[in-house]
Amino acid sequence: MNYKDYITIVEDWPQEGIRFKDITTLMQNGPVYKKAIGELVTFAQEKQADVIVGPEARGFVVGCPVATALEIGFVPVRKKGKLPREVISCEYGLEYGKDCLTIHKDSIHPGQRVIITDDLLATGGTIEATIQMVEELGGEVVGLAFLIELAYLNGRNKLTRYDIFSLTTYQ
Ligand code: PRP
Repeated sequence: MNYKDYITIVEDWPQEGIRFKDITTLMQNGPVYKKAIGELVTFAQEKQADVIVGPEARGFVVGCPVATALEIGFVPVRKKGKLPREVISCEYGLEYGKDCLTIHKDSIHPGQRVIITDDLLATGGTIEATIQMVEELGGEVVGLAFLIELAYLNGRNKLTRYDIFSLTTYQ
């Protein structure tokens, strides 16, 4: 299956010069969404994942169905101020400025095998911050799984210690 046939490229969004990869058209197609998730499920199963972690918001639409298919837990990573209980946090760089991600302090147990999912690997900043927090809580990151990898942004270079699965790559 060529998943690119179901991802829509939106020119100049959210700003001029960006070719946005819109996964909503893939998700609107039930059988294709199911097949895409199934491939990530196989990866997570092979890695013997105990838990799936995903950053908001699009990391949820990928990670939650993977977790339920495997009957394992899903742990959300959210922007600062959104999670109600005690959190740890990690700042990460954006193109302009900084942002801060958080995770509940009791969400990962030491030694748990963690797969981190997201829709997109771009610069890798989001995933790097997520990994840092999971490891701080004692989790073992056994794999990273994405629908899309933008190879020209070299996110992979930040993540050389990890096993990366990308459903489709844009060069
Ligand atoms: C997008 C995307 C990834 C991240 C990838 O999320 O869903 O999480 O950017 O970029 P990076 O590899 O350069 O960090 P965004 O922050 O736009 O949030 P959203 O999913 O809530 O739209």
